[in-house]
Amino acid sequence: MAKTQPVALITGGAIRVGRAITWRLASAGYDVAFTYMHSRKEATSLQKKISRIGRTALAIQVDFNAPQQAAQTLSKSIRQHFGRLDVLVNNASIYKPARLSETRVELVEQLMRVHVQTPLLLCQTFEKLLRKSHGHVVNMIDLLAERPWPQFLAYCASKAALGNLTLGLARELAPQVTVNGIAPGVVQWPDDYPQQEREKYLQRVPLARPGTPEDVAELVHFLVTGGSYITGQIIRLDGGRSIT
Ligand SMILES: NC(=O)c1ccc[n+]([C@@H]2O[C@H](COP(=O)([O-])OP(=O)(O)OC[C@H]3O[C@@H](n4cnc5c(N)ncnc54)[C@H](OP(=O)(O)O)[C@@H]3O)[C@@H](O)[C@H]2O)c1
Repeated sequence: MAKTQPVALITGGAIRVGRAITWRLASAGYDVAFTYMHSRKEATSLQKKISRIGRTALAIQVDFNAPQQAAQTLSKSIRQHFGRLDVLVNNASIYKPARLSETRVELVEQLMRVHVQTPLLLCQTFEKLLRKSHGHVVNMIDLLAERPWPQFLAYCASKAALGNLTLGLARELAPQVTVNGIAPGVVQWPDDYPQQEREKYLQRVPLARPGTPEDVAELVHFLVTGGSYITGQIIRLDGGRSIT
């Protein structure tokens, strides 16, 4: 039997930005399912933290390099444990540098599987449940989708494809389901990002700070609760970086 509590599924939800989104939605009263691949320890600690506030949290290990298998696993878990789905956040991602001469077809395929095939298959898999709940899809894109960096050629192209998919899905899933994208500038540096590069980047950010995972989580929360007349939008969350 379907639960009465709203349910959110967040991919790549154990660490960093995905963790903040998962926590924000759980704190707002959603039961959550989130995926992880390698971050098992962090997944377990988040699951415990969410249980302590009285919400159900399901941590599911999947590899989106095999999107069909992953979608089947998630479908089975969500139907078995919740019987409903209100929010899908496609957040899992691979941030790998490669200039033109270094770009191998295997990397392009991997990025397309994680950034494009997976969100598409998850929308296909959960279409009925999302329509039934008048649900919301949020896709994590990147400012680099519209301002590509040559050192992240395939990453940027795959995120641009996800941007286009967001618009197509918004049309396809209307009027019951909203589909939007978030295009962050920097909201959490890669751990090894050089200090000098950080300062250089921030010189071109009018709000003079990097964003935070919580900034993203707040916007996701708004889109899935207060954004009922917003669909097919890709919202830049970049402290003004895109206007400099
Ligand atoms: N951080 C930023 O400043 C920034 C800027 C622009 C856009 N974004 C976008 O915002 C989102 C979150 O950013 P982030 O920096 O937190 O992301 P991230 O750390 O690069 O990746 C998020 C998660 O994706 C999961 N993942 C990677 N490959 C996977 C696979 N094959 N199968 C299943 N899961 C996989 C990983 O899970 P495990 O750890 O469990 O392996 C990882 O924790 C991403 O979509 C990113 O592109 C972020």
